Amino acid sequence: MAAFEPPKLDIRGFSDSVVPSLAAIMERPAEHWPCEILSRRVTLRETPRRQVVFVTEPGLARRILTDRAGTFVRSRMQNRFFDFSFGKSLLDNRGGQWMEHRRSIARPIAPHRVARLLPAVASACRDRIASWEEYEGDAGLPLLREMRILAFDALWRALFAVEAKRTVSDPEIVAAGARLFAAHHKGFEHYIEELRDLTEWVMGRSRDGLPGLPEGDTAQPLDVNSTLIFLDAGHDNVTATIGWALWLLAHRPDLQERVRAEWNHADAARADPEKLPVTMACIRETLRLYPPAPQILRDVAEPVELDGTRVGRNAMIVIPVYALHRSELWWQEPDAYRPERFLGQEGDDPQAAAWIPFSKGERACFGAAFAQMELAMFIGLIADRYELAPNPADPMRCTARWVLRPEADAPILLRPRDTARAVRT
Ligand code: HEM
Repeated sequence: MAAFEPPKLDIRGFSDSVVPSLAAIMERPAEHWPCEILSRRVTLRETPRRQVVFVTEPGLARRILTDRAGTFVRSRMQNRFFDFSFGKSLLDNRGGQWMEHRRSIARPIAPHRVARLLPAVASACRDRIASWEEYEGDAGLPLLREMRILAFDALWRALFAVEAKRTVSDPEIVAAGARLFAAHHKGFEHYIEELRDLTEWVMGRSRDGLPGLPEGDTAQPLDVNSTLIFLDAGHDNVTATIGWALWLLAHRPDLQERVRAEWNHADAARADPEKLPVTMACIRETLRLYPPAPQILRDVAEPVELDGTRVGRNAMIVIPVYALHRSELWWQEPDAYRPERFLGQEGDDPQAAAWIPFSKGERACFGAAFAQMELAMFIGLIADRYELAPNPADPMRCTARWVLRPEADAPILLRPRDTARAVRT
């Protein structure tokens, strides 16, 4: 049977006649990436202002991301974008204390701590599922709206709600998630405006830091801008990923069965990745095909040679994660949805250096363990309650404006399973 090939980004090619602005490359990547990046390791382009170097070789990408010698630094253009959207925050690395702040903020969601956030995440998911009766049958699930509400509620319950509220649905948070969805639909500026209002609301109800944590475990108190970043980074990428993950799974009833079988083990309810190889393979394959951060940017501070190409000071480095994940140089059938490749049954190495959806190095995502635990929990609980099928009336599309996202209104059909049993946590 031919493997299922889900939608791809339309890579238009870097035009030599109309050179795109650097801001355009940052905002609408696929429209400006050179077509060769899917088959070459390093691709150099000249713009009137700077050289732009596209790196799609895993070893080089890691070298750039984990560089500590100061050759590759955070992108100035990205810094400007962050300043404009979020303002200065504790995660701004232009001050000397950045690393210390980052460690402190990351502590509550360190990999060894995420298990205890599980009940809050599971209760958010169960409450969301309980509201889906109207979407069953042929109606179709408004996937992106529901996933945004779910991801926002889960983040709130796990990290911001005080203990007593963690397992209780808060209508104000559900309404806030729905408002964020509507604002996002209208445009980025509307979304940030809504998120800023929400941040103030959240802070007004919180103790210092991430208040959902026991006393003494509280991290560095968060200022408004850092809270804003946390609320955005902590739910937006998860929204995109769980949307893709469920839609992809809807095309593979056999995998849904394997996921359920895995969740029938009592231990699996702890969302321990070791006990959930199939669920984790589905998550990894989803993030391979659709990394929410489709590219990572850096600037070159010192002249350097990359795979035989001389790169001058001030060049902009683009690591197009999407293309690295889909390059035929590193993956078999790169455009096919085949989670089995991460089960060690096929040729590809599951630890492949070419898989970097959370980036690498000192700026890498510190929410990676929490995100994967959440995604596993959502998939387990939803597959336990429903059989998922694609909705032929609403095909899925793929867009990348900053973030790589699914786009459709109701792309999934929900068929309730009579035998559903609540996965216990
Ligand atoms: C599927 C889910 C997620 C993906 C794919 C993802 C991906 C990423 C990537 C690629 C970066 C680094 C960008 C760069 O190097 O320029 C990043 C940074 C970050 N992520 Fe995530 N992320 C996810 C979920 C989360 C969650 C759940 C949280 C928090 C609860 C979070 C918090 C952050 C923060 C605060 C940063 C900035 C770190 C810094 O600048 O030092 N992310 N994320």
